[in-house]
Amino acid sequence: MPVTDRQLTEPVMGPAEALSELFTPAGKHNPYPLYDALWELGPVIPLGPSGTLVLGYDEICTALRDPRFLVTDAAVHRTTGMIDHSSWQCFTKIMMFSNSPDHERMRRFAAWAYSPRQITERRQLAARAAERWTTHLATLDADGDGGPIDLVETFATRVPIWVTGDLLGIPEADRLELRTAITATTTAFEPVFDPDELRPADAGMDVLVDYLDDLVRERRRRPGDDLVSTMVRDRDADGALSEEELVASLVMFLIAGVQSPSDLIGNTVRLALTNPSEGRGLTADADDLVSAFITETLRFDPPNHVLTRSAETDIDFYGHRIAAGSRALLVLAAANRDPRQFADPARFDVTRKDNRPLSFGLGPHYCLGAAFARMQVEVAVPVLLSRFPHLSLAAPPTYRDQLVTRGFARMEVTLGTT
Ligand code: HEM
Repeated sequence: MPVTDRQLTEPVMGPAEALSELFTPAGKHNPYPLYDALWELGPVIPLGPSGTLVLGYDEICTALRDPRFLVTDAAVHRTTGMIDHSSWQCFTKIMMFSNSPDHERMRRFAAWAYSPRQITERRQLAARAAERWTTHLATLDADGDGGPIDLVETFATRVPIWVTGDLLGIPEADRLELRTAITATTTAFEPVFDPDELRPADAGMDVLVDYLDDLVRERRRRPGDDLVSTMVRDRDADGALSEEELVASLVMFLIAGVQSPSDLIGNTVRLALTNPSEGRGLTADADDLVSAFITETLRFDPPNHVLTRSAETDIDFYGHRIAAGSRALLVLAAANRDPRQFADPARFDVTRKDNRPLSFGLGPHYCLGAAFARMQVEVAVPVLLSRFPHLSLAAPPTYRDQLVTRGFARMEVTLGTT
């Protein structure tokens, strides 16, 4: 059923109806009116035995800090049968889907790769990738017929796969093919109504696991100065991770390093073009504005909309009982528009004070790559907009059919160079 204005202004929409709307293609394309409709039902919405929907900012902060809300780890996925799928076999070996004590063990092992020093050193890689792909855009424009160019394919996805590819020592010739597999794996995070829906994610995961498994063997034979070689050396020195966990950590570094940063570049560029008075100011020397603009993009239109938790025990939560084993869906993108936290939340406003969206999560699983992701966008977007000051949208961007990891499938632009 398509979303209509009439439905959205009626407060009578029930939670089940709004939730099923949310996971239709139209709902995923524009979930914000549905979040507003759900908000009418309160910041915490019981969905019966299937779980609880949490939309409020404070409520989500509480859940993310409460150790009784577990991430959906191997034990949980064993009960759903998802563990039999190669996508979840790999995901349940990484810290994001592990609980204490495995979570701390894995996070400790990888922490160095996300240190401020590492991020500073990677800025050069990001600048090089951004220059390379803006030059590529100019070449496409000069060689083409002046028609629209898809900025997702030509820029937003290419900068992060080049940065992460350089870090991991992945040959350039392999990168674009891996990019397709990366996006496919992220469909595993969507609600699954039929196990067949996991096929694309499983196929993508098979490609990535095989590839990184080979790369780990190769670097063990011939170490270099890349991140894979360092992680292989550390693992072999102290055995902190199993071999499968090592490969899974690298798979995750590749997926997380590429997909959400690509989506954030896409969202930032779109908002820069649709808010030109601020967007035009996004230059390399305008650090404060660039930073505020990215924070507001993360609030207003984040790359990840929903996190899932599983209740370890019965939990009394803001007047509701969350039953042991049931799921809590934490809608970060709705919390980012909680009017109790953000004044006039539907307005894109780069001047907000104390702007703290939940887009990188919170608590023990807070995104380890937040600074790395932001740095790539801070570098890439000003390079693009400075090179093409007349860049404009040629058509409304289209979205992938995903809500949990949400981003553009295509963004047709004209570069405005002629
Ligand atoms: C705009 C880009 C990004 C967004 C919006 C984002 C978002 C998130 C969120 C919401 C979480 C919390 C998951 C949870 O609590 O269940 C998370 C965790 C994580 N992210 Fe990111 N992420 C981004 C980029 C990256 C990058 C570039 C990397 C690394 C290359 C990365 C690595 C991680 C890791 C390792 C975790 C798990 C931390 C843990 O479980 O302790 N992320 N991310």
